[in-house]
Amino acid sequence: MNRPAICVPCRLAAIAAVTACAAAAFAWTAGWLSPRRLNAPHIVNTFEANYGVHPGYRRNHAKGLCVEGQFESNGNGTQVSRAAVFAAGDTPVIGRFAIPGSNPSAPDASTPVRSMALLFRLSDGEQWRTGMNSTPVFVVRTPKQFYRQLVASKPDPATGKPAPAKLDAFFRANPETLPFRQWLKAHPPGSSFANTAFYGINAFIATDAHGNTHAVRWQMVPQTPFEPETAAQKSDPDFLAGDLEARLAQGPLRWHLVLTVAAPGDPTNDATRQWPAGREQIDAGTLVLRRATPQREGACRDVNYDPTILPDGLKPSDDPLLAARSAAYSVSFNRRTREEAARSPGNAQP
Ligand code: HEM
Repeated sequence: MNRPAICVPCRLAAIAAVTACAAAAFAWTAGWLSPRRLNAPHIVNTFEANYGVHPGYRRNHAKGLCVEGQFESNGNGTQVSRAAVFAAGDTPVIGRFAIPGSNPSAPDASTPVRSMALLFRLSDGEQWRTGMNSTPVFVVRTPKQFYRQLVASKPDPATGKPAPAKLDAFFRANPETLPFRQWLKAHPPGSSFANTAFYGINAFIATDAHGNTHAVRWQMVPQTPFEPETAAQKSDPDFLAGDLEARLAQGPLRWHLVLTVAAPGDPTNDATRQWPAGREQIDAGTLVLRRATPQREGACRDVNYDPTILPDGLKPSDDPLLAARSAAYSVSFNRRTREEAARSPGNAQP
């Protein structure tokens, strides 16, 4: 069969148009086209303006440590996704535990939230990267609200802490933040990364082997029983790393990867709202962590846990936070790896 002829100039024009679109998307992310519109550099600049620049460190979730292990899939996840990671078998994982905030020396008890980030290296060469927090909902729904919250949190020079009146005003003006604040009030932080549950929070779209799509969220449910943070731990600024190393010296730590499947009508674009109880849950297998390393020399140091890096069988939902996260993590990653490279002796300026 003859294919319709496409004139050479038309083809070149089409290629030029595609290149121009890609360049425009990149320029938007970099903030060159719209200096007054909110973009990723504005967000990362605000982290730096609030809490200073700590060269080589992530601009958020700066304090953390690397972990390694594997995901042992039981095959159940194939009910919703054809991603190779859900076929029965093992997938190596490079992970990172952290606390949110831009200060790499912050005391662990300064925040009730913890995080787990994972990079799954699939057997077919693909990767699945995810960053999860220890709350089932996020504090805000949109990137603009995230930015406004950062501005409202700017530390008062007199106290070194956010001015309570400004934060209160932000919360009052943004009632979507209520479920997050209520959840934190009702759930004291755990005594360990090991007994903490971590939630992907944002919704994603899973595609199964038949091409059917399913909106999903995921969480890591610890096998280690929950115990609340103790008074003694609150006075040790680095208790989380010490605790994790002590536990790993006794043997591996485990979490179940549980997928929650949305029912029609459940919102996929609002990270401040949980889906109603009773949704189908699939226990897809076990995350087994065996080793921890300080982040300075660990395998997670130069990883960007961009949540939109997904294997075939998973894709981003319409949640507006996902694109903003991807863009901001990239700006933070570029700044910190440039600083890291400048520090290494082989790259010293003449
Ligand atoms: C607009 C919303 C958000 C922005 C702008 C933002 C910004 C950032 C930035 C700049 C980093 C440092 C990235 C790097 O240098 O590698 C980071 C790390 C992180 N964020 Fe977010 N974040 C957002 C929402 C979220 C949400 C909804 C979650 C939870 C689901 C989350 C979880 C994490 C985690 C776990 C890390 C640490 C990753 C690691 O250990 O390397 N963030 N965030």
